[in-house]
Amino acid sequence: MKKLLLFLSCSLVLLHCSPPKKTHGLTTQNAMIVSARAEASQIGVAILQQGGNAFDAMVATELALAVAYPYAGNIGGGGFMVYRKNDGEIGALDYREKAPLAASKNMYLDHNEEVIPGKSTLGALSVGVPGTIAGVFEVHRKFGTLSIQEILSPVIALAKRGVAVTSKQAHRIANYQSAFLEANKDSILFQKEWKENDTIRYLALAETLTRIQQKGAKEFYKGETAKRLVKFMQENGGILTLEDLEKYEPKWRKPIRFSYDDLNIISMSPPSSGGICLAQIMNAIEPFPLNEYGHNSVKAIQVITEAERRSYADRSFYLGDPDFVSIPQEALISKEYSQKRMANFSFEKATPSSEVSHGNIQIIESDETTHYSIVDAFGNAISVTTTINGGYGSKLYCSDLGFFLNNEMDDFSSKPSSSNMFGLVGAKANEIAPEKRMLSSMTPTIIEKNGQLYMILGTPGGSTIITSVLQTILNVHEFDMSMQEAVNAARFHHQWLPDEIQLEPNSFSSTVIEKLKSLNYQFTESESLVIGKVAAILVLENGTLEGGADKRGDDAAAGF
Ligand code: GLY
Repeated sequence: MKKLLLFLSCSLVLLHCSPPKKTHGLTTQNAMIVSARAEASQIGVAILQQGGNAFDAMVATELALAVAYPYAGNIGGGGFMVYRKNDGEIGALDYREKAPLAASKNMYLDHNEEVIPGKSTLGALSVGVPGTIAGVFEVHRKFGTLSIQEILSPVIALAKRGVAVTSKQAHRIANYQSAFLEANKDSILFQKEWKENDTIRYLALAETLTRIQQKGAKEFYKGETAKRLVKFMQENGGILTLEDLEKYEPKWRKPIRFSYDDLNIISMSPPSSGGICLAQIMNAIEPFPLNEYGHNSVKAIQVITEAERRSYADRSFYLGDPDFVSIPQEALISKEYSQKRMANFSFEKATPSSEVSHGNIQIIESDETTHYSIVDAFGNAISVTTTINGGYGSKLYCSDLGFFLNNEMDDFSSKPSSSNMFGLVGAKANEIAPEKRMLSSMTPTIIEKNGQLYMILGTPGGSTIITSVLQTILNVHEFDMSMQEAVNAARFHHQWLPDEIQLEPNSFSSTVIEKLKSLNYQFTESESLVIGKVAAILVLENGTLEGGADKRGDDAAAGF
């Protein structure tokens, strides 16, 4: 349809007219990695060049991000991986953090059952049992081909050599100084004025990684590292024990799979809400001709917003750790369900969120996660999102071992038992329990077209992760953008509550905003708002790979 419209408009003005030239990201013939830092993408690609596969490169990239991008890369956090092998086999690994054994439902509430500000976000009590080292070793055990010795060597060398501070990183470190001071008893590596192009050497982390390289994952969960970590946590008022570490296990999960037009979409299943919400939103919008409405047009924003509103209302009510709660997954991701939920939508007026049922909490999630996408020369693809939740996690930095601890406990519902205006008891599915995994929004996604690998993508962004992944897919599929253009394009977000559309600043036409306001849509457009930092790879028709590295971060594609 888009091409037809273009042809008609060209004919009407009787001018010679060719389609606008696309701006492409890096293109390569064989393999590619897109991540939040050039150093991590390059180390992963070097592993691929040595003959390693995407799973070997995943281990290297994940740990290189732990060195080069301490803001979100980690060994003190967790994540989710979705893979598609070259023979079409798909799967997902959940290495999400979990609640310590001593955690309890009301641990963040005061005597009046009110949430104590900061208790689930800052310092040792906010820390979930880390899953990253167990996750990467499990991936390597199942699919790896190179030795851990070979894979970790360049990562350890990077930590010893040090990493140059980027301008964005210098600003971030400066902004977090008071939080570092509040969370830590002693001064930490990051508590000084690091400037752009300074080099930070991560010597304690290099030693920790060297012990892990020599002794394997058990070093982190049972060995000297485990004992030193538990001692540190307890000295800082935490509840993490050696038993928590010893009992941690990553879990293989069946990914969420659904279709949209001729695309087959594979994404993360619970305990992430990502795959289910993405399926719900895409099912709801599929009948609407978005490409006729136009990119970021009034009608396209309306349809997407209303689908998002309805899906996020369900999210807080139904979703949690599938090992603890029963989730009506098949019903939630059926096309009939989401399309029925859109029955009361009208282009004439916004549906107020107060009239959309389910759930009773506003979703407040930190947005400082990180994503990387990999395609290897054998045609295997991996999509990984990993996190310590907030920027620098709990801000608690173990100087002895050289890493930040997550504050993932904040992704649980701290106060789940109050009922909403419909009398529904919402968010119980995500209440705290010992050994339970907290609900996530991470949406590592892989897409097939005509049975072939087509796109690999994901992003940080807390609750905006799902809607950023959605818009990036639509930008390519509906609005005919290149991968890089799709990643760069301005994004918006609605999550049911608060009942407002968030807009990236200075990116939407005032005519569109005014029209939407007249239809009762509310907006926030803060000067500093960044919605997602997408890392994506598109397989072009001739098999060439095109990277989409987000201009919003220091992201970089590398490949050969
Ligand atoms: N901590 C962000 C997420 O898991 O979605």
